[in-house]
Amino acid sequence: MRSFKSPASDILQRILMVAATGAAMTLMGCNECPTSEVVASKAATVDASVACASVTTGLDCKAICGGGYNSCSVRDDAFLKAWYGAPESNPQFVCPQDYSAQVNVSCQQIERDTELTFDGCVVDGRRPDGLATFSSNNDSALRSYLAEVTFLEAASVIAFEHIAADLARFGAPKELLDWALRARDDERRHTNAAAGLAKRFGAALVAPEVLTAENRSLFALALENAVEGEVRETYGAALALHRADCAGDDDMRAHLRNIAADECDHAAFSHALAKWIAPRLTRIERVMLEEARERAIETLLEELAIEPSFDIRQIAGVPSATVAQKMARALFAGEMNLAA
Ligand SMILES: [Fe+2]
Ligand SMILES: [Fe+2]
Repeated sequence: MRSFKSPASDILQRILMVAATGAAMTLMGCNECPTSEVVASKAATVDASVACASVTTGLDCKAICGGGYNSCSVRDDAFLKAWYGAPESNPQFVCPQDYSAQVNVSCQQIERDTELTFDGCVVDGRRPDGLATFSSNNDSALRSYLAEVTFLEAASVIAFEHIAADLARFGAPKELLDWALRARDDERRHTNAAAGLAKRFGAALVAPEVLTAENRSLFALALENAVEGEVRETYGAALALHRADCAGDDDMRAHLRNIAADECDHAAFSHALAKWIAPRLTRIERVMLEEARERAIETLLEELAIEPSFDIRQIAGVPSATVAQKMARALFAGEMNLAA
């Protein structure tokens, strides 16, 4: 049986290029990280009810730590473990209001450049066909971003589950099917870790809803894979590499280092899947697929033109609009005639 992970495969070469491009862009991105300075920091404790209320109202830094503090978050592993640490026992991530101990909080006074709003591009997961649009009641751009990242990681679990079911139905090689199932399991881990991070910053989480059409065609699978895998998840792999180096939050960087290799593997899977499907499509379907891929790249570039907010760049390590567009252009330069 052919190995999809052969070192000699074109696909792996492509993924290595993607990873190298992401690393190079990381350096560019770090150079462009916005400047800020933590001028004061302070540890404090709050009641569990206050920590829980932070999901909807945020933490009142001034009330907790005094005037001047403008960034504060829960930094208490034991409390957070009680909140989101065991999804099996607490599947809805219900905040432990009756937690008996005081909850540790960290306050910082940060001098920063301009504050920008964020309503743009989140490319941290693979969207399955029929996924309902994300909407959230979070009260800050960062919380909304972290909630959407978690939403997309959870959606990716469903996406890979559907792909695995399709591959079994279409009689794909076992190695490709197993690869999809491994990716699904990776996304479960990513979802739990992303949920933990989002909770730490007080984000309210939203579960994905997916309307699924049964037994989609091979062409429908190819279309989803072209847009979500070959374009968006491929860019997402480079983005994960970038964020792993540029995120200002220690936990966020550690989380991203863990998932970046998985995301490169998922991008590789997308290209392997496309290669397996291509000879099974008609010539017209292949032309339509190519057009869909080019449209997806154009759409991604448009979305990446929206400047992320200061917090999202600084804490989560998301690149500026300029760097993000450079990364995408470098990744997809060989696939379409991109204007400079
Ligand atoms: Fe993921
Ligand atoms: Fe992924």
